[in-house]
Amino acid sequence: MIKLTGLLALVSLLPAWTVMVSAHTGYARQYDTAPTTGDDHGFQAPGPNDARGPCPGLNTLANHGYLPRDGKNITIPIVLQAVLDGFNVGPDVVTVAAKGALIAAETPDFFNLTEIALHETFEHDISLSREDFNVDPNNDNIHFNETVFTTLANSNPGVDYYNATSAGFVQKERQAIQNAVNPQLINNVKGFKIRTRESSLYVAVMGNITDGVATRAPKNYVQILFREERLPIAEGWKKNELMITADTIRPIQKEIERLSEFQPSGVQPNPWIRLGPSGDIDPITANSI
Ligand SMILES: *[C@@H]1O[C@H](CO)[C@@H](O)[C@H](O)[C@H]1NC(C)=O
Ligand SMILES: *[C@@H]1O[C@H](CO)[C@@H](O)[C@H](O)[C@H]1NC(C)=O
Ligand SMILES: *[C@@H]1O[C@H](CO)[C@@H](O)[C@H](O)[C@H]1NC(C)=O
Ligand SMILES: *[C@@H]1O[C@H](CO)[C@@H](O)[C@H](O)[C@H]1NC(C)=O
Ligand SMILES: *[C@@H]1O[C@H](CO)[C@@H](O)[C@H](O)[C@H]1NC(C)=O
Repeated sequence: MIKLTGLLALVSLLPAWTVMVSAHTGYARQYDTAPTTGDDHGFQAPGPNDARGPCPGLNTLANHGYLPRDGKNITIPIVLQAVLDGFNVGPDVVTVAAKGALIAAETPDFFNLTEIALHETFEHDISLSREDFNVDPNNDNIHFNETVFTTLANSNPGVDYYNATSAGFVQKERQAIQNAVNPQLINNVKGFKIRTRESSLYVAVMGNITDGVATRAPKNYVQILFREERLPIAEGWKKNELMITADTIRPIQKEIERLSEFQPSGVQPNPWIRLGPSGDIDPITANSI
């Protein structure tokens, strides 16, 4: 019975899906690259109608016009190009995340930066700078939260940089904190993999990736990235010359993974995909698969 209901829910989605897909047959992309050619990539804070979301890296790229400054109508090619141009991060590092963003969106082939926040699609608990979706009083998994960020801000005491070691300890400490404050915590392997990739990215992007596992990310650069969502160019930051790829970032990621002492905890659903905001956390209900 349960299986049948799930199947029916899926089948009932198919007509709409088929229409969306066929409407795009022979479809030429609106943009091959970001519609931001000619942008001077200076920093500009978002206005009230601009979309920003839970990802400080993507918000920063929009604040500098590598992504559309309004944070909207973003496609996979646009986001891959922006991440490459702004951070010298290669497509192999972020393609899955870009696809995840599309899954969370209402439209079939573009998204805005806020839509990424759909809980438990690509968005996850135990963020470095946002509170968990289910934590009161604000249930705000979108905006930067200084209290949450304290763990990272105060890490690696005594030196002026963060690195893979401190990033691993930060993940461990954040895991303990959210275990204590969020009864509805979802801390599974999917979230852990995404979190670890994100941690390795702030170290790699703000540091010099040629140093491998010993890469040092100056604290003031990382703090400006998270707190102001600004590239710390005036402070001396330069984009890496060596491209950050799955291979070049791996040593950092492995070290973070090791020191995180990941222990699955909280509510433990198997990872699945929510198809839209009306999809429930329960995979058996309609709009989740
Ligand atoms: C982003 O998309 C969502 C729909 O998923 C919409 O509710 C929201 O208003 C959009 N944000 C902006 C700033 O247009
Ligand atoms: C941009 O996205 C909005 C919905 O978020 C849509 O209404 C509009 O048509 C899109 N514009 C383009 C150029 O695709
Ligand atoms: C930030 O998170 C803390 C800890 O959960 C919470 O007490 C505070 O209300 C949050 N601040 C905002 C502005 O959401
Ligand atoms: C990170 O920095 C700390 C403090 O200087 C140091 O003890 C640790 O060995 C460094 N980690 C790596 C992987 O270089
Ligand atoms: C990083 O280090 C390499 C080798 O030490 C150097 O060539 C490069 O200029 C440094 N800076 C950047 C931004 O890549």
